[in-house]
Amino acid sequence: MNAKARQFASFNAAFAMAFEEEVSGETFFAALGESEPDPRRAALWAKVALIENRTVAALRPLAEALGVTPADEAEVRRTGREQAVEWQALPFAEVMAIMVRDYPTGYLAEFEAMLPVAPAQAMSAVQLLIDHEVAIIDMARAELSGSGDPNAPLDVYLGYVTNHHARGSDVP
Ligand SMILES: [Fe+2]
Repeated sequence: MNAKARQFASFNAAFAMAFEEEVSGETFFAALGESEPDPRRAALWAKVALIENRTVAALRPLAEALGVTPADEAEVRRTGREQAVEWQALPFAEVMAIMVRDYPTGYLAEFEAMLPVAPAQAMSAVQLLIDHEVAIIDMARAELSGSGDPNAPLDVYLGYVTNHHARGSDVP
């Protein structure tokens, strides 16, 4: 987990990392859901895992066109589960607080930095990365503050990404 945005040599390098981390993100959040004893919280993690899954599906055509899909996706998915072990040991509220603290300056800042260097056909894919990260951060904020439905931002994004996928990719 990075709290600080990493620098990438090129758009393709940044997008390759983003795509790979969405793939590992799905199994990461799924693992958090599976070990969470509280059904409401488990369902929230499962929904975040679904967000990662749908984002991967929406980004895949571009990742394939750019030739940046991971060589061994099963290994990436295994790594996601492995990385969840650290957070599985933390209290739920602490995990939410880490997300609110670190995701805006980490993942979100990285995705925002990709926009100005993205080729035209990749713009809406980058926007999806930004939107999915904002949805997850908003979920964690709602959860921590206890006001508002933490599912709401996730549901809005899920509706949006599903339509995006149905429209097809941005690959020319
Ligand atoms: Fe993600």
